[in-house]
Amino acid sequence: MAIRNIITEPNKLLRQISKPVNSVGKEEQRLMDDMLETMYDANGIGLAAIQVGIPKRIIVMDISKDESKKEPRYFVNPVIKNKDPEKATYEEGCLSVPNQFAEIDRPSKCEVEYLDYDGEKKLLKADGLLATCIQHEMDHLEGILFIDYLSKLKRSMIIKKLSKLKSTSVEA
Ligand code: NI
Repeated sequence: MAIRNIITEPNKLLRQISKPVNSVGKEEQRLMDDMLETMYDANGIGLAAIQVGIPKRIIVMDISKDESKKEPRYFVNPVIKNKDPEKATYEEGCLSVPNQFAEIDRPSKCEVEYLDYDGEKKLLKADGLLATCIQHEMDHLEGILFIDYLSKLKRSMIIKKLSKLKSTSVEA
């Protein structure tokens, strides 16, 4: 496993639409292993492949709070089958939008069809943080960031801050 570099906004790659995976093989599993390690290293709860520069429809997540009891989840080619009309609000952040947080409304429940780590077809019925997190990650596959739900003014202020940070920091 290896830790990969996480791409941060502003970066055109994050706006790319990711492509479906034909089948889950060794290459995809290696990518998922790396993504999970990268996500844990950055203290995140979810990561989409495009955030490490790979435009494939692959997501890893772990929303367990207990450090000693990890619950990694892998989603390949996820598709939302059902969304609850009721909304839930969570304060969201994103490893590609460092140190920025905002309350976002999303459907409170959803059902997602996907392939797991072994390429098997699964159905997830999610609510609470799990529902919010999977929807946030699936947005990445469409080139959407959580800041896109904010007002134009708020969004441009965040992007300005991040651009400034990039120009003053030396990336090793
Ligand atoms: Ni994100």
